[in-house]
Amino acid sequence: MKKGIFTLLAALLLVNISMAQNDATEAQIDALLAKMTLEEKIGQMNQYSGFFDATGPAPAEGYTKERYEHIKTGMVGSMLNVRGAKEVRAMQELAVENSRLGIPMIFGFDVIHGFKTTTPIPLAEAASWDLEAIEQSARVAAIEASAAGLNWTFAPMVDISRDARWGRVMEGAGEDPYLGCMIAKARVNGFQGQDLSANNTIAACAKHFAAYGFAESGKDYNTADIGLSTLYNVVLPPFKAAAEAGVATFMNSFNELNGIPATGNVFLQRDILKGEWAYKGFVVSDWGSITEMIDHSYAENGLHASELAVNAGSDMDMESHLYVKHLKKLVESGKIAEAKIDDAVRRILRAKFQLGLFDDPYKYCDETREETLIYHEDHMASALDIAKKSIVLLKNEGGLLPLPKEGKKIALIGPLAEDKNSPLGNWRLASDDHTAISVVEGMQAYPSNELTVSQGVALIEGETSFPSHVKLNEDDRSGMSKAVKIAKKADVVIMVLGEHGFQSGEGRSRSNLGLPGLQQELLEAVYKVNKNIVLVLMNGRPLALPWADDHIPAIVEAWQLGTQSGHAIAQVLYGDYNPSGKLPMTFPRDVGQVPIYYNYKNTGRPGPKNEVFWSHYTDQPNTPLYPFGYGLSYTSFEYTDLNISDPTADRTVEVNITLKNTGNVEGEEVAQLYIRDRVASVTRPVKELKGFKKVELKAGESKTLTFTLTEKELGFYNNEGKYVVETGDFEVMVGGNSVETLNGEFRLE
Ligand code: BGC
Repeated sequence: MKKGIFTLLAALLLVNISMAQNDATEAQIDALLAKMTLEEKIGQMNQYSGFFDATGPAPAEGYTKERYEHIKTGMVGSMLNVRGAKEVRAMQELAVENSRLGIPMIFGFDVIHGFKTTTPIPLAEAASWDLEAIEQSARVAAIEASAAGLNWTFAPMVDISRDARWGRVMEGAGEDPYLGCMIAKARVNGFQGQDLSANNTIAACAKHFAAYGFAESGKDYNTADIGLSTLYNVVLPPFKAAAEAGVATFMNSFNELNGIPATGNVFLQRDILKGEWAYKGFVVSDWGSITEMIDHSYAENGLHASELAVNAGSDMDMESHLYVKHLKKLVESGKIAEAKIDDAVRRILRAKFQLGLFDDPYKYCDETREETLIYHEDHMASALDIAKKSIVLLKNEGGLLPLPKEGKKIALIGPLAEDKNSPLGNWRLASDDHTAISVVEGMQAYPSNELTVSQGVALIEGETSFPSHVKLNEDDRSGMSKAVKIAKKADVVIMVLGEHGFQSGEGRSRSNLGLPGLQQELLEAVYKVNKNIVLVLMNGRPLALPWADDHIPAIVEAWQLGTQSGHAIAQVLYGDYNPSGKLPMTFPRDVGQVPIYYNYKNTGRPGPKNEVFWSHYTDQPNTPLYPFGYGLSYTSFEYTDLNISDPTADRTVEVNITLKNTGNVEGEEVAQLYIRDRVASVTRPVKELKGFKKVELKAGESKTLTFTLTEKELGFYNNEGKYVVETGDFEVMVGGNSVETLNGEFRLE
């Protein structure tokens, strides 16, 4: 009892301290704002790129000189793409030592999956369903990035996407809003830690607000035209989760949503984000997205675009260079109220105070720290841990895997088998090229088998750290005969196929989801001489591989796993790590099924009532190749004893299940709970993930798992954006993927 009172008092004290700190910060901001001229305020809303322009056109000659002048006169609030303790210090000095008020700049960078130590692409990490490991991965990225002078990352990308054609699915957590919320929180916590002012934490940025993942036909930057139900229930929840986790910033998006570009969207940024959610951080535009409103046919010119963007709540201009040009005129002419400028600047200054930049603008600029922490062995260990956990075993017929550790002849074939670059994936701007452990190197750590290697079809040469369009070899078959020859002699063939690291990511949409180049041909040629094939897939998106699923006995989804890729893959192939990943996105049979996702609506004609007139294709089943939540293990799991309690007065339902490891080895399983609200005032999907638990079980061991459903899980947003919980029948489904489940039900009164 006494202990309880002390805990309560301590909690109250902490709340009081933090409220007092907030008040003090707000008072400091007031004082600073009072000293600032309108130009200086506008300067805070201006961001420039440094070294190179990652995704947009490079600035014209001579422009840099003007930028330096702007930095020195306090006309730049932030920079992106400047990195390195020394480089950041030099830029920061320009602003702090020269400008009238010495306001420090905030330094942003796309720290998407690791910094130097590169962790798996975010989609792969989502396949781990391991929130602690995901948080740790973001932590490592923050430690290295902050040691290199940075204090802000443009991550996590929390865009839900159901379209594997969209290249940026590699950057997100997949198709599900519930998993997306959990991962958004884990990533924000990992980047920001407990204390944003510490020198090893960085501000995070939830992007791209909003609906960027719903680009029509999966084509990047394309229009999103979606209904309110999808917006409220699928798109917005991970953003809200990030805001609730205290994410310091938001980034808006390139796309228009239902006719209004997100950057000029009052409904999204003012009404929902800053209004309903009372969000206190700032919103940065996406690269040039303010000026792009002209091409959207929404703004007449740069002046008009600036007016629309600020009035809609876009606080900082990334690389449109328009605010610095036009905002003064717009305030003077009354088109923008100065109060809106003050609000934007207050938000930006707040982030700088929270980061501790006013106490020490150089706190992230310690070269010794940088030298010690980059590629630290602990970071390598974390990268290996999450890489192993991200691998998904898709097929293992006849127990081909795990491989025996000695006495076997193994042929390693494929353009990606020796590749040290593709496993780093896209969006790894700080990584050193060609530094991933390749599959060949990983396999060499097990020396008692005999390894022979052949690319089969050569990988294209000459990749740079950010190549634009890459193609896998499409016409050179000269290496095929060697591959077939070594396959003939081997006991087991491991084929490493998939996508080049830069075939996914921004601007890399694909209309075909098969194996690019000559890889399918190679796979079939090898299969003709040896059927004992383990197909290791490296890719940044779901692929449609029905032939492989029909013919190849073992398939391992290894995504792009970062620096430790080859070790993680070899440890899984040899059974030193028992795979535990589950797909965060549905894998289609054919690109024509896309968008395909597990939480679809039933329609009025869901099942075959007669041959023709129901919702289906005439040339493909409706089912995917591999469903959401799917993944195998070297052991097997059994679900029994589903038990569902009656709802309590406060509408809490307890769901119990017994999970048993029925195989011979220890393993981890991700038990997933789905619900279906049978009848609702706005129709609900056939199932929705509402809980999961990753559990470790020894061979033969059983555990009872308890899931708790509350109003938070049982309701939905109606088309007015109001969260409602409706009475009626609910189905409950629990299992190891979204299809094979034990089912029960309850009624909510
Ligand atoms: C991307 C953003 C990224 C920004 C800065 C844009 O092209 O859409 O996600 O943060 O560039 O590099």
